[in-house]
Amino acid sequence: MTNDLADAQQAHLSRLEQAYAALLAEHGYDGVLLYSGRAHRHFADDQHASFAAYGHFLHWVPLAGLEHSWLLIRPGQRPRLYFHAPRDFWHLSPRLPEEAWVEAFEVVCQEEGEAPRLPAGRFAVLGEVSAAQAERLGAEANPEALTRALDEARVRKSDYEVACLREANRRALAGHAAARDAFLAGGAELDCQLAYLQAARIRESELPYQSIVGIDAHGGVLHYQHYDLEAPARAHSLLVDGGHRFRGYCADITRSWAGPAASDDYRALLAGMDRLQRQLVEGLAPGVSYVTMQERMHQGLADLLVEHGLVKASAEAALERGITRAFCPHGLGHLLGLQVHDVGGRQDKQGHPLPPPPTHPALRLTRELEAGMAITVEPGLYVIPMLLEPLRQGATAGMLDWGRVEALGEHGGIRIEDNVVITAAGRDNLTRDLDLTQEMS
Ligand code: GLY
Ligand code: MN
Ligand code: MN
Repeated sequence: MTNDLADAQQAHLSRLEQAYAALLAEHGYDGVLLYSGRAHRHFADDQHASFAAYGHFLHWVPLAGLEHSWLLIRPGQRPRLYFHAPRDFWHLSPRLPEEAWVEAFEVVCQEEGEAPRLPAGRFAVLGEVSAAQAERLGAEANPEALTRALDEARVRKSDYEVACLREANRRALAGHAAARDAFLAGGAELDCQLAYLQAARIRESELPYQSIVGIDAHGGVLHYQHYDLEAPARAHSLLVDGGHRFRGYCADITRSWAGPAASDDYRALLAGMDRLQRQLVEGLAPGVSYVTMQERMHQGLADLLVEHGLVKASAEAALERGITRAFCPHGLGHLLGLQVHDVGGRQDKQGHPLPPPPTHPALRLTRELEAGMAITVEPGLYVIPMLLEPLRQGATAGMLDWGRVEALGEHGGIRIEDNVVITAAGRDNLTRDLDLTQEMS
């Protein structure tokens, strides 16, 4: 860990102490207990699912794999970390790193992972705790108003958090370049995923989400979850949505690549989507509504589909008839941080809900951009037969060049996703700044 990052982390923790003190006073609590959580065991089995600690715990303690640990925050007092270090010869017991941040905490090492006794006063307990556990503690479990307020405190990132997001990007991009190379060398989806993990130096269970690695039509399955063992004889395309995690902070990057059998249509649309994605990023600044950005994406998709002749009507008609929404049913992006889909994207500064418009139900970020927000920008264009099928009826039937749409279907889809921090002056693209592969394509 560099001194700069350690200094930035100290400043981050000081800012957090102030924010918590103000919010606890505002909501009338003497303190809050944060639980890191625990891995879940499969039913009737002795094997566990992979684990990531609770986001509000991670906001303070940068150990994403730390289970059964508790953090007690009381205004004006050093945060107390109950660090779970069991005596266990089956596993390697966790050890605190020798890093400066540890000094900011009063650390109590516990062999058992039980919740600590709380002092007298009004306390909330946040995390995966049962009502019975909260009652034993004499604390309120996950009170809604306080949780929303703490979510809001995660929306604007500190310099430390931005540095962590940047490093997660750097590591993920090494994986993306390797996955592309494996694909161009004739690899199957599994080969691309293994190349990604090797180059990104991460095990699969520590990724912030399972990589999406889709060759050909699989690129059009939005959350495609398998890795084929065999490559097609002549591949058309590859879509990789792969991330990384650094000190808890997530990267969430997508790249799309033309294969040896890629059609001219796909190549032209890939270049067009790259231009559209860059234009959308250029439009980001404080005060811009992300619902407006979502609408701009659809305007761009309509223009692209008309320009390339896949839609044989006006861009306005394509928008009005919902054609672009059939080609891209997901949102333009979301907040990013300790969770890939970070908290606070659909609320205002006071924590009131800001639901997405009915026309864009999947949009996870509905608020105005502010300096310090970290977001993704991920326009997509896919051939999803289930969504396109209804357009074959009625007024839209003659508005599409169905032959070319079907041929494009062999390529699945295109998504280009960068991670961007909003600054007072505009934006800082964490992904493109480090991504040399995009300049080579
Ligand atoms: N990787 C999930 C997403 O892009 O939102
Ligand atoms: Mn993604
Ligand atoms: Mn994303």
